Order: sequence, then structure tokens, then C-alpha cells
Amino acid sequence: MLKPIPLKEDLYYIGVNDRTKHLFENLWPLPKGVSYNSYLIKDEKTALFDTVDICYSDIFFHKLEIALEGKSLDYVIINHMEPDHSGSLGLLRNRFPNVQIVGNKRTADMVQGFFGITDGVKVIDDGEELSLGKHNLVFHLTPMVHWPETMMTYDTYYKIIFSGDAFGTFGTLDGGITDAQLHPERYYDEMIRYYSNVVGKFGSPVQKALEKLKSLDIKYICSTHGPVWTLDEQIQKVIGIYDKLSRYEGDEGVVIAYGSMYGNTEQMAETVAYELAQQGIREVILHNVSKRSHSYIIRDIFKYKGLIVGSPTYNNKLFPEVEYLLSKIEGRDMKHRYFGYFGSFTWAGAAVKRLAQFALDTKFEVIGDPVEMRQAMRTDSYDACISLGKAMADRLKLDK
Ligand code: FEO
Repeated sequence: MLKPIPLKEDLYYIGVNDRTKHLFENLWPLPKGVSYNSYLIKDEKTALFDTVDICYSDIFFHKLEIALEGKSLDYVIINHMEPDHSGSLGLLRNRFPNVQIVGNKRTADMVQGFFGITDGVKVIDDGEELSLGKHNLVFHLTPMVHWPETMMTYDTYYKIIFSGDAFGTFGTLDGGITDAQLHPERYYDEMIRYYSNVVGKFGSPVQKALEKLKSLDIKYICSTHGPVWTLDEQIQKVIGIYDKLSRYEGDEGVVIAYGSMYGNTEQMAETVAYELAQQGIREVILHNVSKRSHSYIIRDIFKYKGLIVGSPTYNNKLFPEVEYLLSKIEGRDMKHRYFGYFGSFTWAGAAVKRLAQFALDTKFEVIGDPVEMRQAMRTDSYDACISLGKAMADRLKLDK
């Protein structure tokens, strides 16, 4: 069976790779899989940082027991209770009845709720410390990154932040564990997708957490998903990605997300895109909402400042897949987007009206005039789509 991977003399990676699940949280596609990271420090006392999804508990416990080499497990630090990390906690307590479960008050509530465990739980406060010997752990509460109990743990000896979901990525660890052992570029887009899909609603708590981290000298980031970040330039980069995403700051570019039953609304999307390119906008991404998983559309909406949504009228409402996308955007309290919209109908229009309401609700800055097309594209609707593309390009250029 697999063995633990030493990262330092007394620090082991005992996480696992999941190449089986199709959907993370039963929602988000996993074409490149995902890792559930767990770490062990062996000092005078031993401490485990999070567990793994219960589906992988067998491999996990095997690795843990090899790493412990017969030593007892003194603490399990629970930075996050979502079951992709806490799933094996009940089994862990069965195997190690004396292990102290360490978390904050909200963690303790969830440990009781999920596992019925109330004894051997050490409740810590923000800033509290726990000595393992030469390693000293400092707990930093970071609520809502991604659940209310989430926290990060700083090891003063190696200057590691065990960051929970923060700075995590989709994608398995194929051979290498650290950024120095693999191509970190492979993971950036999957980091943005993880953030935007899973944590995206919590921009303000993420900003507060980043503010707390500023006072720490960080040499390693040990997240619960994806690579261990060890290189200074990578650490700066991933913190920068989180900072930018949590401020809802996008790059120059436009996502055009559209629904289309028979290609007429798609022609509107193509025309807007054509004009954006004519105006020198290089990042123009068209997403057919019926074909592309919303996970990737949401990722790109977080990446770029411009958003244009198009929809046919369907049963006197928006096209259902477009409505679904809007609910996901609203669910993430998305901010600071330049927004354009267009719609079509055959006998009675409703799509444009609904998109106008969406613009009001999100407080996005509306760019250009909305275009409403009846049945098929003619010169007037073509020209109106060109004008919409031009208006969006002009707005983006103003920020240069
Ligand atoms: Fe990786 Fe919020 O769990």
C-alpha cells in the first residue's frame, strides 16, 4: 500500500488523491480529480492536520500508522469540518481513542452534530497556542473561509500555515506534492475554479483572513487541496490570486454566456463577440450555457470584468439554463462587473425584462443598450449587437 511522503524531517504528507468522483460536492466537475490533503507533525507530541474523505480512509489510516511508527497520536487539528476533510474523524477516534480533537467552539458543535463526539475535544480561541515540543501551533480563526468554523493553524517552527480550503485547487497530485516538484501553472485555473465555485460567496471574510495572514512570516502553505506551496514567488502569487478574487476584481476581457435553442440567439452572441475583437479585446469567451458546465462559466466570470448574457424567451421566462446561471451568479454576491444583455423571442418577449431586473438586483454597471430580437437576425438587430460590443469595449478601455 501507499506510504506517507516526508516533506520535512518530522512533517509528513498523508493525503490522498480522488480520481473517481465525477462531481465535487456533487455539483462541480472533477476532470482532473482532487486531492484531500492531510499532514502529520511528529514532535514530542504528534499532531494530525485534518483527515480525508471517508471513501479514502483505508489508504489514509495505513499511511498515518506507518508515519507514526508506533507513536501515539496526541492531537487532530480540525481546520475545517466539511466532510471532504472531517469525513474520517469518527473512524480516527475509534482507532485512536485518546486523540484530542482540537478546534474552536463552532467546530466542537459540529463534531458533536456529525459524530456525536463530546469528550476529548479541546476548544481553542482565536490566537491561542499549543506546543508540540519545538513546534508551536497558533490558531487563527477565519470564519466563512469556507464554513463558519474554519480556521488556519500556523506552525512557528517551520513557518507553515495550514490553511484549510484557502489556496486549494482542484486537480490531483500526480507524483509531486510541492510546487517545486510539479508545474504549478497546471493548477492556477483549477484554483480559480475551486475558489469561485466553492468559496466565491465569501469575498469579505476572505479579505479579513488575508489581513490576519499579513502579520505572519509564511514559508509554506499547506492547504487541504492541491499542491503544497513552498516557493516564495508561488506563495506571493497564490495569495495575490486570492486577494484579487475576493475583491471581485477582474482582468480585461468579456464572458458572453448565452442560451440558444435554434441558433438565432447564438448569432447575437457571435456578433457581439466579433465587434469586441474588432475593438481590440483579446479575451472574449463565449459559453453556450446548455453545453458548458456552469462551473467553468462561473470561473471565467470571476476572471473577467465584462459579462454579457443572452437568452431566448422560453415559456414566457428566461431560457432555464440561463436562469440557473443567474442564480449562481447572484448566489456568489458577484460584484463590480460591466454588464450587457440581449434576448430574443418569437411571439412575446420576457427574457430582456428579466435580464434588466438581474442588472438592478446585482447592481452591475449596465453597458450599452440591451438588444431584443424578434424571431431572427436582421440588419437592425445585427447593428444593435455591434453597438453593444462596441460599448463594452469602450468601457473596458476606459480602465486602461
Ligand atoms: Fe474542501 Fe470546504 O471543503
